[in-house]
Amino acid sequence: MAKIKNKKNSGQKLWLKGKKYILGGNMLLSKRPNLFLPDLWPTYFSKTKSCFIWDLDNKKYIDMSYMGVGTNILGYNNNRVDREVERAIKKGNISTFNAPEEVELARKLISMHKWAYKAKFARTGGEIASVAIRIARNYSKKNKVAICGYHGWHDWYLSANINKKSSLKNHLFDQLNIGGVPKEFGKLTFSFEYNDFDSLLKVYKKNPDIGVIIMEVKRNFNPKKNFLKKIKNFCTKNKIVLIFDECTSGFRENFGGLHLKYKIIPDIVLFGKALGNGYAITALLGNKKVMKEANDLFISSTFWTERIGSVAGLATLKEMKRIKSWKKITKIGKIIKEKWKRIFDKYLIEYEIKGLDSIVSFEFKRKNFNVYKTFITQEMLKKGILANNSIYVSIDHDNKILKKYFVEFEKVIKKIQILEQKGIKLEKLLESKASSLGFKRLN
Ligand SMILES: Cc1ncc(COP(=O)(O)O)c(C=O)c1O
Repeated sequence: MAKIKNKKNSGQKLWLKGKKYILGGNMLLSKRPNLFLPDLWPTYFSKTKSCFIWDLDNKKYIDMSYMGVGTNILGYNNNRVDREVERAIKKGNISTFNAPEEVELARKLISMHKWAYKAKFARTGGEIASVAIRIARNYSKKNKVAICGYHGWHDWYLSANINKKSSLKNHLFDQLNIGGVPKEFGKLTFSFEYNDFDSLLKVYKKNPDIGVIIMEVKRNFNPKKNFLKKIKNFCTKNKIVLIFDECTSGFRENFGGLHLKYKIIPDIVLFGKALGNGYAITALLGNKKVMKEANDLFISSTFWTERIGSVAGLATLKEMKRIKSWKKITKIGKIIKEKWKRIFDKYLIEYEIKGLDSIVSFEFKRKNFNVYKTFITQEMLKKGILANNSIYVSIDHDNKILKKYFVEFEKVIKKIQILEQKGIKLEKLLESKASSLGFKRLN
């Protein structure tokens, strides 16, 4: 089997420096090489276009993995979005006055979500979730929060891990270091399991003073047995503020929040990630009940006022609507799921396929799945394709790209079958340490 030629690629060298100078090496756990191919992952990009990334050695790859961790439904450097952003930069990004585009972005998002009364913008998902918790607690006058999903790195969320019985173990990963999060907060945040209404009832029974529920609408599995409706009714009955965190699910299956498709309306919804197609903008929409009470709250930040975010948001919405991007990526994702199934069935690998159609992922029923995943990444990297076990689909993953991916992917899966049949341990063929598995998503 051909080995990876450029073992000491410039990205790996820079990563060593990054670890020396930057806390944790970088700013986002999901972009650390240990999640992919620890000793060989190129790690840094020099440029991007469409669904291609160039590394620091100018090697070009097709991105069949995270696509900016879900930020780029319209592909990297989308011309129509970038043109608007460039125009905005020329006029100036920030000043003593406000950027007028934020008003139009708020109006647009509210017009798409008729139940919403007012908007607020931030620049990251974790930030906007914290804003939502503040607004919700202010309305409910209760501090306790029940969570189901991932909602960022802030204290209010991670403190769920302090409570052993209701921790983030099933949501993220086991060894999450939450040093620095005040132990006292452990009495405030509790997790429950997706599609398990009884697990919420159990948490509520012990904490009848829960005033807020925040959850992802859907992630890995479809809601079952009226799960979302039951939650909504439960919130109405017990005067709990319901927040749907759609930072990731928004704009992927329909134009706006996924809750519109399920016809379950929350008090607050959050959008992030793909809203600016790679430029930082996150949004909160709230109904009249909660937002009227929140108008005077001190929720304020300098860089929430910059122009690029609002301009990118508007341009992204316009382009999504023009090409109906949610239909395209859902169709592509369905094709990927089908092709994966056919390949895994053909080579007799036991598997599970999960996720929204536009964020597809698979797992093999193997105890050391991380070794399998690493092997796939390693072999695909040799062919110029970034791949692990999930794909955030973009409109640029067209038939030509998929064909290239599947030709190489099938070869790797065939190799795995042959190695298993021969009783050869996959570990022996890894040219790097095995990757870790990264975030779990319980829903
Ligand atoms: C549903 C959801 N909420 C919040 C976040 C946090 O967003 P950010 O990483 O921008 O802080 C994420 C990120 O993955 C997410 O998927």
